[in-house]
Amino acid sequence: METDNMNPGAEIYSTWCEIDLDVLSQNVRYLKKRSGTGMMAVVKANGYGHGLVPAARAARLGGADWLGVARLEEAVWLREEGITGPILVLGYTAPQRASEAAHYDVSLTVYDRSLAAQLNRQAAGLKQKIKVHAKLDTGMGRLGELVENSQDLLRAIAGSENLELEGLFTHFARADEPERPETAEQIQRFSAAVRRAEQEGLRPRWVHACNSAGTLYFPEAAFDMVRCGIAIYGLHPSNLAPLPPEVRPVLSWKTRLVSVKTLPPGSGIGYNHRYVTRAAERIGVIPVGYADGFRRRLGNFALVAGKRVNVAGGVCMDQCMLQLDPIPQAQIGDEVVLIGAQAGEQITAEEVGEAWGTINYEVTCGLAARVPRFYRGQAAGGMLIG
Ligand SMILES: Cc1ncc(COP(=O)(O)O)c(C=O)c1O
Repeated sequence: METDNMNPGAEIYSTWCEIDLDVLSQNVRYLKKRSGTGMMAVVKANGYGHGLVPAARAARLGGADWLGVARLEEAVWLREEGITGPILVLGYTAPQRASEAAHYDVSLTVYDRSLAAQLNRQAAGLKQKIKVHAKLDTGMGRLGELVENSQDLLRAIAGSENLELEGLFTHFARADEPERPETAEQIQRFSAAVRRAEQEGLRPRWVHACNSAGTLYFPEAAFDMVRCGIAIYGLHPSNLAPLPPEVRPVLSWKTRLVSVKTLPPGSGIGYNHRYVTRAAERIGVIPVGYADGFRRRLGNFALVAGKRVNVAGGVCMDQCMLQLDPIPQAQIGDEVVLIGAQAGEQITAEEVGEAWGTINYEVTCGLAARVPRFYRGQAAGGMLIG
C-alpha cells in the first residue's frame, strides 16, 4: 500500500528531517542491478542517520538480499521490529553473546582464530550453529586475519563443530580514490585467498568485498555480493568517486524561522557576539543547534526562499541566527533548509561536510536522535522516530 505521511504537520516541530524511502529503495534497486550480484544494504549507525528500521525496510523493498550492521544490538533491534532475511554484524561481537546471535539468527564476523575458538566454546549446547563470515585484512589495517593466513582462519572455522562458515570478506581502504593502485592490489590478494579456499573446498556461499565506491568503480570485484552504505542514501562516496545521476539523495533537513527582527547597527549576535551588525540588519532565529547535529562553527549557511543566507555568529545548543538581508520578505514560519533543495537551489550533505572539515558520512550520522524523522514512501508505514 502506498502511504504518504511526509510532513504531517512538521510545522509544529522546531527542526526535522524528511526522508524519502522510495528513493532509498530505488537506489538499492539500481545499485544491485548495476553490480549484477547480491546486495547487502549497510544500515548501521541508525541507517547513516536516516533511521535503522525504515532504512532496512526500504532496502529490503529495493531488493537487498542482506542487511549489514556494526553491532549485534542493531541486529537485535531489526529483528524485534520484525525485519527478516539475513543480517551480518560487520564489527566485533563479544563471544559471550553467542546465544543471542543464535536466538535472533544473526551472522557474525570472525577475524581471528582465538575469536573463532571462543565463539565455538560459547556456542556449545545451543540448538543451532553460529553462522560466521571470515574477515581478511587485505590492506585496510583494521579488523581481519592477515590475508596470507587466510587458510588457517578458514580451517579453524570449518573445524569448529558449533560454527557454520557462511561467508568470506574483506574491506577496501581507498576505493573512493579510484585512480590509486591500492584497491586493485587488495582485490588481487583477496582473489588469491578465494582461490586457495576453493582449492581446499573451503569456499563459503557468500564472498564479498565492495563498499559503495568499490561497487561503482571496481565492478570486477563484485563476487557474490556488494556491501553498499553511503550510496543507498544517495550520498557520494567522495569527490573522486561520485554517484551516477540515477542515484539520488534521500534526506532533507529543515527548520523554520521562529523570530525575525531588525536590529540596529553595532548589535552583538549570540554568545560572545561573534557577529556584530554593521548596519540595521534583519536577523532571524532558527530553532536548530549543535545538540541537533548542526556544528558549532562560524560560516554555516542555509536556504530561505530558495536563496542562500549565512548564519550570523556561532551556533547555540538549540538555536542559531540567520542574516536575512538578502530576503526582505522573510517572515516567521518560513521554511529553512539546511540540507536539501528549495525553490531550485540546493545544499548537499557533501557541501556541509566540506564546510565542517569532514565528510558527508559524519554529517548525516551526526543528526541527533531528538530531530524527528518524517518518512515518505511504500516502506514508511506511518512512522515518526526521534
Ligand atoms: C565492513 C564494511 N562494509 C561496507 C561498508 C559500507 O561502506 P560505504 O558506506 O562506503 O558504502 C562499511 C562502512 O563503513 C563497512 O565498514
